[in-house]
Amino acid sequence: MTCPTKMLAVVNCRQLVTLAGPARPRTGAELRDLAIIPNGAMLIREGRIAAIGSRIEIPPDTEIVDADGRIVLPGFVDAHTHAVFAGTRADEYEERALGATYAEIAARGGGIRSTVRRTREASEADLLCSARRYADWFLAGGTTTIEAKSGYGLSLDAELKILRVIRALGADRRLRCVPTFLGAHEIPDEYRGRIDDYVELVIREMLPRVVEEHLAEYCDVFCEPHIFDPPRARAVLSAAKSLGLGIRMHADQFSADSGALLAAELGAATADHLESTTLVGLAALAKAGVQPVLLPASVYNLGSTRYPAARQMIEMGLAVVLATDFNPGSSPTASMPMVLSLASTHMKMTPAESITAATVNAAWSLGRGREIGSLEPGKVADFVIHDCDDYRELAYFFGREPAVSVFAGGACVYRHSA
Ligand code: NIG
Ligand code: FE
Repeated sequence: MTCPTKMLAVVNCRQLVTLAGPARPRTGAELRDLAIIPNGAMLIREGRIAAIGSRIEIPPDTEIVDADGRIVLPGFVDAHTHAVFAGTRADEYEERALGATYAEIAARGGGIRSTVRRTREASEADLLCSARRYADWFLAGGTTTIEAKSGYGLSLDAELKILRVIRALGADRRLRCVPTFLGAHEIPDEYRGRIDDYVELVIREMLPRVVEEHLAEYCDVFCEPHIFDPPRARAVLSAAKSLGLGIRMHADQFSADSGALLAAELGAATADHLESTTLVGLAALAKAGVQPVLLPASVYNLGSTRYPAARQMIEMGLAVVLATDFNPGSSPTASMPMVLSLASTHMKMTPAESITAATVNAAWSLGRGREIGSLEPGKVADFVIHDCDDYRELAYFFGREPAVSVFAGGACVYRHSA
C-alpha cells in the first residue's frame, strides 16, 4: 500500500477523466461533459488532489504512479447496494431458470425472507468476512464508495448487527461505506399478517436505536402496494426524517407512481428503481429535485425488459444516478462496468452520461459531492487506472473488469493480479 501522507504524482494518463464542473449534480447536456484532460497528470498531497492538468510541477521526493497510457477516472460511487447478507440464492436462480418467477418465490417464503433467515443466524464476524469478499469485487470493478443498506435482519438485533458490519467494513479504509437503515424491506416471518405491528417495531424500537448509535445516515423503505404501501412508507420515512436521517426509497419497481410521488412529497434524496414510473411520477421528482437511482442490473437479472425511462428523465432535467443494487436475489453483481454496459445498450444512455451518473451524480446523491465523485483540486484522491484506451470502452467491452489499480485517499487499495 502506498503511504497516504506522501506526495504522489499520477502521470502518463491518456485520458484523465476529471468530471470537473459545477459543484452540484449534473443534468441534461452536462451529463455528456466529462472534462477530459488528454495526456494528463495529477499531484496528490495528503490524500487529496493538489494539482491536475496537462502539465504539473512534480516536487522532489514524490512517488510516481505511471498510468502507462491508460485512462484514469474517479472511483465509481455505487449509491444503492445491499452488500451485507449471508448465503446466496443460487438455488432460486436455478428455479427461475426453470420457469418460477421472483414474485412466486417470494410469495412462498423464499426471496428476501430466505436471506433474512440465514442472515439472522450468521455471526457478525462471518458477515464481515463475506462483506470483505464482496468489497474486493466492488474494488475490482473500480468502485471506491458504496451506499450499503441493512434490511436482511428485520429484527432490532439483526438490523443493528448488519449496520455494525457496514461500519466495520468502512473502517478497513479500503471501500468507503455510507450506511442506510432498511428495516422496512420485507415483513419478517413472525409478523406475517401483522404489518402494522411490524411498522410500529421499526418506528418505535429500531429507528431510535439506529440513530442513537449513529449507525445510519439514510433510511430507505421498499414502497410497493403489496409490501409497505404509501401510508406505511410515509409513517416510517417521516419518523426517520424527524430523527435527522436522509431519505432514499425503493420506489415503483413493480407498480406505477405512488413511490415517486411519496419521494417527492417527503423531499427524499433519491427514488430508486422507477421501472414502472410514468410521466406523472417523473414530473413530481423533477419538481422536488429528487435524484433517480437507476438499477438496470436488477432488470436484466430478473429477465425483464422494463428498463427505467432514462432518456425521458434526462430530457426532463433529472440528475440521474446509476448503481448496481448488489444483492443476493434480484442483482448479484458488484460490477459498475456491467451497469454502464446495460445503461448504454438498454437505456440508451451514452457512455459519458453513464459515467457521470455513476460518479459525480452518485456522490451528490449521498451528500458527498464536495468530497468525491470528480477529480478536482481539494477533493479526496479516490481514482482508478483502467486498462482502456478510451473511456467509452468501459461500457463497450462488457463482462470484464478493466480496473488495473484502485486508490482511495491517495493510497493503493486494490491491484489487479493478471
Ligand atoms: O432492490 N426490491 C427490494 N429489494 C431488492 C431485492 C432484494 C432481494 O431480492 O434480496 C432490490 O431489488
Ligand atoms: Fe435494492
